[in-house]
Amino acid sequence: MRVVLLGPPGAGKGTQARALEARLGGPHISTGDMLRAHVQQGTALGAQARPYMDAGELVPDSLILSMMEERLREPDAANGFLLDGFPRTREQAIALDQLLARIGQGLEAVIYLEVPPAELVRRLSGRRTCPRCARIYHVDTMPPKAPGRCDQCGEALIQRDDETPEVIRRRFEVYSGETEPVIAYYRESGRLHAVDGTTGVTNVCARVEEIVRSARPPSPTRSEAALP
Ligand code: AP5
Repeated sequence: MRVVLLGPPGAGKGTQARALEARLGGPHISTGDMLRAHVQQGTALGAQARPYMDAGELVPDSLILSMMEERLREPDAANGFLLDGFPRTREQAIALDQLLARIGQGLEAVIYLEVPPAELVRRLSGRRTCPRCARIYHVDTMPPKAPGRCDQCGEALIQRDDETPEVIRRRFEVYSGETEPVIAYYRESGRLHAVDGTTGVTNVCARVEEIVRSARPPSPTRSEAALP
């Protein structure tokens, strides 16, 4: 299954991708997690990406596209993937279609998680993340079993560097300017499925699974960007 999860910061893309990974197969590929791992490991890409991430800006397409092309060519992605946080600009969406067209593939479904702004702010302000395994929690709605510790690996949970009110505000602005056109791009090509993201993690997951399982077989020719 080749699936894209779209939605504003805090919509639940990471939470859903983790829940869906075991049900649908294919790795959960999160550009945000990949970039944070590069920052943590002190790579050249991490050093280039960090100032953008800390400011709530998008990392330049050139860096993202080479990172993703390499990732999507790895053997575990050969039969499918769940993309979280990519594509995030129209240019990235076109590049993804072109890459898939080159290997005779297409997307099964693009899921757009709809959540109102006040709920997004509540989610982001209460989110806690494991810096080791990237598992996601919420202090009220999805607390860890032991306060402040990851259930999976025991690491101390953190708030991300991009979760200050000022940076969150900027991430929403960037989302409106750069990522909403991606929603329009997929809607125009008939691949967008909007899902109410406020109905609880289990219900949202079941709805997404239902859509993906009933999606039409992918066809690269449905992409406006298919290569000759
Ligand atoms: P990224 O890590 O992708 O951040 P984001 O898109 O802003 O999304 P979040 O991770 O904040 O939210 P989410 O939708 O995954 O929600 P979550 O599941 O955690 O990107 C970070 C930065 O990296 C960007 O700003 C940019 O700089 C850079 N970057 C990444 N990709 C890029 C790209 N392609 N191009 C350029 N730059 C890029 O859930 C949030 C909270 O809500 C949690 O606490 C969770 O427990 C709770 N929750 C989830 N679902 C529910 C539910 N159904 N009901 C109640 N609570 C819920």
